[in-house]
Amino acid sequence: MIRGVDIIFGLCWGDEGKGKISAAFSKNYDYVCRWNGGPNAGHTVYLGNKKYKTHLIPSGIFYGKKSIIGPNCVINIDKFFDEIDYLKSEGFDTSLIKVSPKAHLITERHIQYDLKYLKPKLGTTGQGIAPAYADKMLRIGKLAKDYLDKKYIWDGSLEGDVLCEGAQSFWLDINFGDYPYVTSSETLPYSACSLGFSPKYIREIIGVAKIYDTKSGVDPLFPEALWNNSDLEEIIQLGQEYGSTTGRKRLVNWLRLDKLLQAINKSGVSRLIINKCDVLKTIGKYKVIIEDRIVNFETFADMKKNIEKYIYDNTYGECSEIIFSGDKQNI
Ligand code: IMP
Repeated sequence: MIRGVDIIFGLCWGDEGKGKISAAFSKNYDYVCRWNGGPNAGHTVYLGNKKYKTHLIPSGIFYGKKSIIGPNCVINIDKFFDEIDYLKSEGFDTSLIKVSPKAHLITERHIQYDLKYLKPKLGTTGQGIAPAYADKMLRIGKLAKDYLDKKYIWDGSLEGDVLCEGAQSFWLDINFGDYPYVTSSETLPYSACSLGFSPKYIREIIGVAKIYDTKSGVDPLFPEALWNNSDLEEIIQLGQEYGSTTGRKRLVNWLRLDKLLQAINKSGVSRLIINKCDVLKTIGKYKVIIEDRIVNFETFADMKKNIEKYIYDNTYGECSEIIFSGDKQNI
């Protein structure tokens, strides 16, 4: 029987450091599950001083927890086995990794279509994500159950405490994001129920943001003018804002607080974690954008106080805690 479900997901455009947070939480759960996307995601996890990178397999694997890839995910079988081999060689118990029989496969044809038609126009990760979901909708997709050995197939059971980890984040959601500059799946917490539990089990919704905004790929909301801003360039270098799947330099802007607020309210966040505060502290510039207006603060303490006030004054009371976190520190 399920005791409760907690959900960790990103409130921005991805790359908020969700991997680090869900890895830190994972040890307290029985199951850790992915509900959307595929190898377009990239999670960086630190255990002690060692850095690990995964693209598909949930971070529960680092703590010996059952790690589930749900029916609304798309998988590239070669990359799935590469990741299994990598985790095995690092000493993790990969028998805990299970894939929903209804997850869809990404084929070479999907990747070629993405690279030829979508990546140049939309700045996709080129992993074949959209064409795989398109085939799913057209009812011509290939199901994991027909291509994976039985030992990898999930029987659908969930028990005890369940952690769901989102990929790609709020503003990349196919319904809420800035279409067509979005991904092909549902990134909001409601969509975690596609794993097969009822919404009544959801206890906490933990939203992860970053103290500045970044986006991988094309988006008119990140105008080209941002490229020549030396403060933002410094953020890119200090924050190492390069895509973990593509290696591309990310577009950077000051935190658009009004957009963060919308994401918090639409997804029902109960706890908010704002990452990478130490990057701004190092460069000593403290700014946010509210309705296209840049607001400057003298100190980080001042910035923090104003962000807290803006969020607590404008949310409906569900968000009861805001944590400002540094980069690599564990919380
Ligand atoms: P796709 O998911 O590869 O189709 O890419 C669609 C958009 O989502 C592009 O702007 C990608 O850069 C972005 N995207 C997809 N996955 C991630 C991610 O895990 N982090 C950040 N951006 C992502």
